[in-house]
Amino acid sequence: MHHAIQSLPKVELHLHIEGSLEPELMFALAERNGVELPWNSVEEIRQAYQFTDLQSFLDVYYAGAAVLHTRQDFHDLTWAYLERARGDKVRHTEIFFDPQTHTERGIDFDTVISGILSALDQGQEQLGISSELILCFLRHLSAEDAMVTLEQALPWKDRVVAVGLDSSEKDHPPEKFTAVFDRAQAEGFLTVAHAGEEGPPDYIRQALDLLQVKRIDHGVRCIEDPELVARLAAEQIPLTVCPLSNIKLCVFDRLENHNLKTLLDAGLRVTINSDDPAYFGGYIGENFAATAQALSLTLDDIEQLARHAVNAAFIDEARKKDLMVELDHWRETAEFGCA
Ligand code: ADE
Ligand code: ZN
Repeated sequence: MHHAIQSLPKVELHLHIEGSLEPELMFALAERNGVELPWNSVEEIRQAYQFTDLQSFLDVYYAGAAVLHTRQDFHDLTWAYLERARGDKVRHTEIFFDPQTHTERGIDFDTVISGILSALDQGQEQLGISSELILCFLRHLSAEDAMVTLEQALPWKDRVVAVGLDSSEKDHPPEKFTAVFDRAQAEGFLTVAHAGEEGPPDYIRQALDLLQVKRIDHGVRCIEDPELVARLAAEQIPLTVCPLSNIKLCVFDRLENHNLKTLLDAGLRVTINSDDPAYFGGYIGENFAATAQALSLTLDDIEQLARHAVNAAFIDEARKKDLMVELDHWRETAEFGCA
């Protein structure tokens, strides 16, 4: 199984680029930009990665992101992720970025997005990895702030496929952002939202009904509402599940108790993703491998998860078909135990 997972052509749909900032690069950028970090060494940073919930992680994640200043920094961050992705056989990736984390510190929106895009373009040319960019609004900030950020994104709208919603979920329901998402859709953006990670199933319903999301990021707490599970299955709403993240942030106590397999067997369009791999102990390949091991996933399950991600991606039918053909070849080889 290990080899079959390693060789699986993958599509990643839930990856925060700021969450791919490895401690080594964090230190290098801190030095380059003269930024003081609250940690003295790479080892000390890794020690700090003991989280009790989403907020305890976000506090560390925003502190780390403060080393990112220049266009080159955003390029280097994104390029480092793409090199990891190539190692994991990622063929297409859809990347979240949090502009407000940077504009709040005085960094220009254009500096952030142009650095990320230059690396994504290079990834397409040199690594053959196709990509899309998704702008996430920070839900702990106001809807007015989100609207300002949306306006900053308008000149870039041909390069941003969708808008999303992340950061502290509790007490920040999707409905707070209805007007912003209405405007984003009128401007041609698709929509997604983090919901049902720590927040209640009702936040998933709000994301679907008020924000018209095409995918739910996480969504694992849907299990508490059987009617909602039935709806997600009937409407084939993709869930971008991030198993190692869910363990690190104590959404589940152990991977063996994760509900991914239950949701998959209930007919939901479940996918596997890495979320913030530098903080949660693994990129997409490790998420697949650890989950397969803990939940005894079969080759059929792995194939299904990979095909779900292709179907859920914001790409045209021709690209989907190419990726499905790659999966056909993978399955033929995997069948004989030598993939
Ligand atoms: N920002 C980065 N990772 C996140 C997560 N798992 N949930 C909400 N916001 C995030
Ligand atoms: Zn996330």
